Amino acid sequence: MRGAVVNGRRMKLVGGLAVALAVVGGLGATGAAAAPGSPNGPRYTAGSPGAGDTYFPNAGNGGYDVQHYDLDLTYAPPEADPAPLVGQLDGTATIDLVATQDLDRFNLDLRGMEVGSLTVNGKPATAVAPPAPGAEVDGAAYWHVQNDADRIWELTVQPRPKLKAGESVQLVIEYGGQTARPLDIEEALYGWVTTRDGAMVVSEPDGSMTWYPVSDHQTDKASYSFAITVPEGKVAVANGMQPKPEETAGGWTTWYWDAPDQQASYLTTASVGDFDLRDTYYSASGVPIIDAVDADVTPARLLVTNASLARQVEMIDFYEQYFGGYPFVAYGSIVDDDTVFYALETQTRPVYSRQASEGTVAHELAHQWFGDAVSPERWQDIWLNEGWASYASWMWDEHDGGATVQESYNEWYASEEPDSEYWDLQIGDPGPLGLFQDPVYDRGAGALHALRLELGDETFFAGTQLWLERYNDSAGTAEDFQAVFEEVSGEDLDGFFQTWLYEQAKPPATWTTP
Ligand code: ARG
Ligand code: ZN
Repeated sequence: MRGAVVNGRRMKLVGGLAVALAVVGGLGATGAAAAPGSPNGPRYTAGSPGAGDTYFPNAGNGGYDVQHYDLDLTYAPPEADPAPLVGQLDGTATIDLVATQDLDRFNLDLRGMEVGSLTVNGKPATAVAPPAPGAEVDGAAYWHVQNDADRIWELTVQPRPKLKAGESVQLVIEYGGQTARPLDIEEALYGWVTTRDGAMVVSEPDGSMTWYPVSDHQTDKASYSFAITVPEGKVAVANGMQPKPEETAGGWTTWYWDAPDQQASYLTTASVGDFDLRDTYYSASGVPIIDAVDADVTPARLLVTNASLARQVEMIDFYEQYFGGYPFVAYGSIVDDDTVFYALETQTRPVYSRQASEGTVAHELAHQWFGDAVSPERWQDIWLNEGWASYASWMWDEHDGGATVQESYNEWYASEEPDSEYWDLQIGDPGPLGLFQDPVYDRGAGALHALRLELGDETFFAGTQLWLERYNDSAGTAEDFQAVFEEVSGEDLDGFFQTWLYEQAKPPATWTTP
């Protein structure tokens, strides 16, 4: 789903839909729509191969809007230990989408997997070699370009008949391949990371394409359902809730998960391991919490993990007071024994690497509001995710009797001298290699604290709630964020955001108090 209508106004849209509206507008000007193919008929064009994000130009796609992904996966983890970390993944993705322009062809993103068959509304398309640019291809067809050196992974679908704007389509794609340990642009592990006992699946920013055909950008959220078949004894945990119990036959177990909320592709998980799937418990507000902890987590780390997970209920209660009701159908944590070494705020069910510390749990929970319910419209807006999640964990610390938010701010502010290169990173535009650099996190948190001091608690939290409400189930930019706080405060905040997001210097000491 793309931008939702909220508060009676349509949110800013990117890419395909804006194009679709222009095309529809053009039709109106020429009078009644003529038949497809006639001289005055609609022009069928190719959907864009990217969502228009300058950091990852080929991530996501234009020309359509995905409604739902149904992923039926079968996964065989590596067989022996020690063994090469290679598994086998076979999937059937059933994807419901709506064309947002008259489409001759359109793309999905898929990396490192091979397509076995593809149907459009039940009709098979033929696998063909990628045609030369501008060349015609006969009939319903698909082709797949995988260029690892240039990081281009595009599966093109040519539907026949062509699709009219507004038309609903169902694709069924059978695909599969060996799974390995994919790397992101900065060479960190991500995507379907094969582990000794399964897979740790953490796909920020563009790693979902390593395990299913997807429009891999947060401007096209969708709902999800999963059936994940793994060797008997393994546990598969995805987003959302189990609609029915797992089923075992012939040495394989199928785990079912449903995630009905709008969800960005990078927040999808389907992690597999020797997990202890714990009994569901509930927040005071009734959110079901489902945790899964790898049986191989060491005793010392298990102690830390269990103590942290035990605080989740209180943390939800605390954040709900400031950020409004928890936004999704469920929550819970996956703690994997692996070597990825970072956690990810996968929607409804963050994944932790080897252990879950309390600060990280407070951080990933806050992301459910900041990042998940409201996503960064462009990757350059990442500070809205990481700054907020970091600031919320300062708030939790204060609530829990630790440092006050002001003390955390002061400590961060004092930690880098003015001549440090730390201040060079523009957190409002950190570049694709800067997404997860420290300043995005703590200068981002500092910016939010300074904004709070600038506006006062009441206006700051009113703005926060308006932001979360207006862009819920959707995405917004730093400019949208600034506009919300200008709206609630009546102040011009250009100078403030310039200082905090773009100035390559230590901000003045104005917000540091004794
Ligand atoms: N968003 C994650 C967090 O909560 C960090 C993800 C790091 N990802 C990466 N590809 N390096 O901080
Ligand atoms: Zn984070």
